[in-house]
Amino acid sequence: MRTQVGIVGAGPAGLMLSHLLHLAGIESIIVETRSRQYCEARVRAGLIEQWVVDLLKQTGVGARMRKEALFHDGIKLSFNESLHHIDFRKLVRRGVAVYGQQEIVKDLIAKRLKDGGQILFETEAIKIDGIEGKKPTIAFTLGGASQTIECDFVAGCDGFHGISRPAIEKVLQFFDREYPFGWLGILADAKPVDDELIYAYHERGFALFSMRSEHVVRYYLQCAPNEDAKTWSDDKIWSELGARLAGQARKRLKTGKITEKSVTAMRSFVCEPMQHGRLFLAGDSAHIVPPTGAKGMNLALADVCVLSRAFEQYYKTKRETLLKGYSENCLRRIWKAQRFSWWMTQMLHRFGAGNDFDMRRQLAELDYVSTSDAAARSLAENYTGLPMDGAWRRRR
Ligand code: DHB
Repeated sequence: MRTQVGIVGAGPAGLMLSHLLHLAGIESIIVETRSRQYCEARVRAGLIEQWVVDLLKQTGVGARMRKEALFHDGIKLSFNESLHHIDFRKLVRRGVAVYGQQEIVKDLIAKRLKDGGQILFETEAIKIDGIEGKKPTIAFTLGGASQTIECDFVAGCDGFHGISRPAIEKVLQFFDREYPFGWLGILADAKPVDDELIYAYHERGFALFSMRSEHVVRYYLQCAPNEDAKTWSDDKIWSELGARLAGQARKRLKTGKITEKSVTAMRSFVCEPMQHGRLFLAGDSAHIVPPTGAKGMNLALADVCVLSRAFEQYYKTKRETLLKGYSENCLRRIWKAQRFSWWMTQMLHRFGAGNDFDMRRQLAELDYVSTSDAAARSLAENYTGLPMDGAWRRRR
């Protein structure tokens, strides 16, 4: 098999890259270990920045999102038994949308297949070779048989545990931080407690009240990092959610059937650079953020916008300036998102009982963000997404 850009991984990054390349007349093949059904059902985060809403609409994959996404103009912070509104629209004149990652994945898979795109599901990429030359290859197995894709470039969009980052490990530097807690996430058939997301700080730990529709909620509770979700009974989850929520909202908390429960560990991770030879890393293969600022998928999509533009420049002009600058260009945004995700995380979580100084400091920070327009604007600017510097807009 031969293509221009070989893509490892059919998550949001790999699929969006393939879609953007197709719009620019560049061929790609995606290799994905899992089945289509698995990719489409994988429950992940669900918040997209304003520019992602625009990207989906303007590249022809926004029809269902327009109808089904929930558009939010702000969030609420819950602490000291009361709710505080942060009004993004007023502060920075933009908002965010709640639209599950797997919905974006479904829309992109459908569009790629409709446009004749090649996605090899249930195909395990085994080895990436030749990236220091001009003809890299991806070796894979399909139905027990070994095959290779020859390409001009490889995009490693295969997540934190994929094979792409280890393929260039010798040139990489790693930066990371682990947090002493995880998130227990649930999906439940219940009416949302509020029309906006609530980020709750409480002595008992952080809680987040999000949603997927008018009838499905996505809630999270701070827990131990390696806790088994099965040890959390449904009753315990609902009572803990209630206990961590400010009084005025607690009364509105509706319980319902819990349909999904899982625990995610929290970490910050960046590798530098995000490229070597003809292999380019994008999304979780290069960086992980703690979920508190909902930046993971947005960053992955930002990476592939920058990367697709660089490929476009290469194929149109044979110039490699954007390809050479890919990592540096992405890392500026990534580090700002790392900073914001770390900041939200440290402000909202309990780092162990008994540290009263930290608790007072966190409450002062929440009070400051809720009462100062300058502080709230900084939160709003980062939460709704820093400017994309025209990375995808300029070309059309
Ligand atoms: C969701 C997840 C997040 O990490 C967040 O900050 C906001 C919303 C969600 O899954 O809905």
